[in-house]
Amino acid sequence: AGQSSDSPSNSGDQFSSIGFIASAIGSAIGLGNLWKFPYIAGKHGGGAFLIVFVICLIFVGMPILLAELSIGRGGRGNASTSYLKLSGSKLWARSGFLSIFASFLIMCFYSVVAGWTLYYTFTSFTGSLYESTNFSEHFSQFTGSYGPIIWQLIALLICLAIIMRGVSSGIERFNKILIPLLAIVLVILMVRSLMLPGALEGAEFFFKPDFSKITGESVLDALGQAFFSLSLGMGAMITFGSYVNKKQSLTAATLAVSGGNILYALIAGLIIFPVTFTYGIEAGQGPGLVFAALPAAFEAMPFGSIFGGLFFGLLAMAALTSAVSLLEVNVAYAISKWKWSRARATYLITFIIFLISIPTSLSMGGILGDYKLWGYNLFDLIDYVASNILLPISGLASTLFAGYVWKYAAEESGLTPLWQRGWIFLLRYITPILVAFVFLYSVGLLNI
Ligand code: PHE
Repeated sequence: AGQSSDSPSNSGDQFSSIGFIASAIGSAIGLGNLWKFPYIAGKHGGGAFLIVFVICLIFVGMPILLAELSIGRGGRGNASTSYLKLSGSKLWARSGFLSIFASFLIMCFYSVVAGWTLYYTFTSFTGSLYESTNFSEHFSQFTGSYGPIIWQLIALLICLAIIMRGVSSGIERFNKILIPLLAIVLVILMVRSLMLPGALEGAEFFFKPDFSKITGESVLDALGQAFFSLSLGMGAMITFGSYVNKKQSLTAATLAVSGGNILYALIAGLIIFPVTFTYGIEAGQGPGLVFAALPAAFEAMPFGSIFGGLFFGLLAMAALTSAVSLLEVNVAYAISKWKWSRARATYLITFIIFLISIPTSLSMGGILGDYKLWGYNLFDLIDYVASNILLPISGLASTLFAGYVWKYAAEESGLTPLWQRGWIFLLRYITPILVAFVFLYSVGLLNI
């Protein structure tokens, strides 16, 4: 093991440099930035949380991101075989498999939420969304009905159509179009939001740090968020890393993805908080913030159905570019493990994900919501197991692997010798401890 040749063993289908960076950014920027980040920042007092989040992103997220990209490119395999090739150990291959399983589970509810974003985009543009009088009731009625199933199917079919075409003409081409489009829509919405009368108050809430709001819980939430939003622990970055050649600078990719990720989270906040302050929406209300609360603001705004449609369209695009990367993790595994063709792997896996996502979606409301395991409905259970258990474990695995096991990690990373030392230090002594804390906290073994 060690340095492998430059010819990928998975397939000859590879990313160009731009395509690689666009696709990695596409994976990172998702519902995590535009839906989750604003509501957890709202819950933890805005500005101070932002600072903690950026620190976590730099000291925990970036080192692990670089580790995962390096493992993928060094191992030239899927998220499991890359470990195997670099270490020769089945145990490491199994820990890599955990991340693939995590991405499969995440896909089973991520596609549900992606479906919601498509529904909200569509009904906002047509205006039918605004016929409702109570938006939070509308949200719970919709998510609890059979309606979302058709929308999640559409979301999955879009992913299927892209993944079928492979790495360069599927994933890369899609991201090269969507990422710039995403940026344009984001800027339009930000300008619109900043012209609202509550813009200053909103921006102040988002940027003015109030450190009294920072608790142990907010730090752990920030860490978890940094992790999720960089697509770590789910095999996505390992898989994408395996599709890029040795000329690509992985450190540049790490900087671009992390920088892009922060920028999108910042702009998301600059869109949402001016709106909440202008229209008297409670910023700290949790997951319903975007779907249940914001439509009221769009309804009150001139041309609101267009801005609402653009906003939810933005969410949908971000969700789809992430979902594509999650699906690819599984497809890449099936292709090499069972020697399936790409088409077969894509059809079968998408179909299974669709089947599981039906009860997942129906568990959001009265239809299957009463079936609970350990107090969780299926949607929350899948989220919990994947995000709180599998994700930190596989994130820990990639840190420890690059820090202690794989001797050529520093070389593959392309860092200069001084930075290599700093990076390996973080991977050995800092990131594992922090990720372990997140894990213990999220499974309830640590109380703060
Ligand atoms: N990073 C994505 C987001 O912020 C989620 C994701 C995680 C996507 C892991 C792919 C892999 O929404």
